[in-house]
Amino acid sequence: MDFSQPLNPALLESTFGLFRFSRMVYAAAAVGVAAHMKDGPVEATELARLSGTHAPTLRSLLDALTAWGVFERNEQGQYGLTPFSHRLVPGSENAANLAMLLGWVGLPATYEAFGGLEHTLRTGEAAIGGSGGAGFYNYLREHPHDQGLYEAAMESSSSSFTDCVAAYDFSGIGLVVDVGGGQGAFALELLAKYPGLRAISYDLSEVVEGADNSSHPAHARLELCGGDAFRSVPSGGDLYVTSTVLRCFDDEACVRLLKSVRDAMPSHGKLVAYEMVMPETRDHAALCTADLLARAVYGGRDRTKAEFSDLFATAGLRLTRGISVRDPLQALEGEPV
Ligand SMILES: C[S@@+](CC[C@H](N)C(=O)[O-])C[C@H]1O[C@@H](n2cnc3c(N)ncnc32)[C@H](O)[C@@H]1O
Repeated sequence: MDFSQPLNPALLESTFGLFRFSRMVYAAAAVGVAAHMKDGPVEATELARLSGTHAPTLRSLLDALTAWGVFERNEQGQYGLTPFSHRLVPGSENAANLAMLLGWVGLPATYEAFGGLEHTLRTGEAAIGGSGGAGFYNYLREHPHDQGLYEAAMESSSSSFTDCVAAYDFSGIGLVVDVGGGQGAFALELLAKYPGLRAISYDLSEVVEGADNSSHPAHARLELCGGDAFRSVPSGGDLYVTSTVLRCFDDEACVRLLKSVRDAMPSHGKLVAYEMVMPETRDHAALCTADLLARAVYGGRDRTKAEFSDLFATAGLRLTRGISVRDPLQALEGEPV
């Protein structure tokens, strides 16, 4: 389906209940049932024992998902993997998709938040974790299991990080500070391509604590640093990066964060903000939906280039150019005014 185009009216009504399908796939992924089929088809009671699930309900779920084409059932009534459900096996070729399903797309916290869209619609506030633009991160702090899944999802975006690194020329730069850089996945991708570069990945203390990048060949050039970007960010970076961070916050919070960056950067410093950029026509179904998700989950939003330019200007930065990474993701470059 092409989500950049309106759906055929005949299809629209059949989408109403699709959240059920997505929850079925999520539930199967969360209990890890696919991993027990990786060596061949298995009977439902045995799968229930192996996955610690309720056998009659698991059978019901597997039947439903088999009917949808996610699993298959042989003549002995055993359930096995299809090409699609291979991606639900940890360590599979599509393990990044599994991490995104478990830690973002299907994460109960984001599902709950989007389920509360009506609250966001009435108030403009995030539907989870209270108001104030940082509610979701406060929520994760109180739910370490979800926090771990969310971090793993963010770290899994490696193909997008590769494209981000390729889209911008980092040569001649000494120190990059990745603000909201999680446990350093983006910085490591960057360091692998630029052997002369050093990087700081800066994120909330609870996110960087416990990160272990020691097996990565570039880990010695990466420093993980914990703190609150609304208060300050490490100073002296030649280039500051944010990657899908601004969409997590409302305008006022974004300006505070960008001011922290502006205050920390030397006069020759630059900012590159990787963000999905809303077209002025606001007619991209997937991106308009992502905007609503950012509002309900984070109390944030997606923005047009002109709106990013206004945010930069309020924080004392000039948006100099937007480089396309892959539609609709752009590298928005800013410099001190
Ligand atoms: C949507 S994630 C993006 C992560 C990563 N940059 C990426 O592209 O996958 C936003 C990140 O901002 C971090 N963050 C949220 N509030 C922060 C704060 N006050 N200071 C520093 N980082 C923060 C989160 O912990 C999270 O890692």
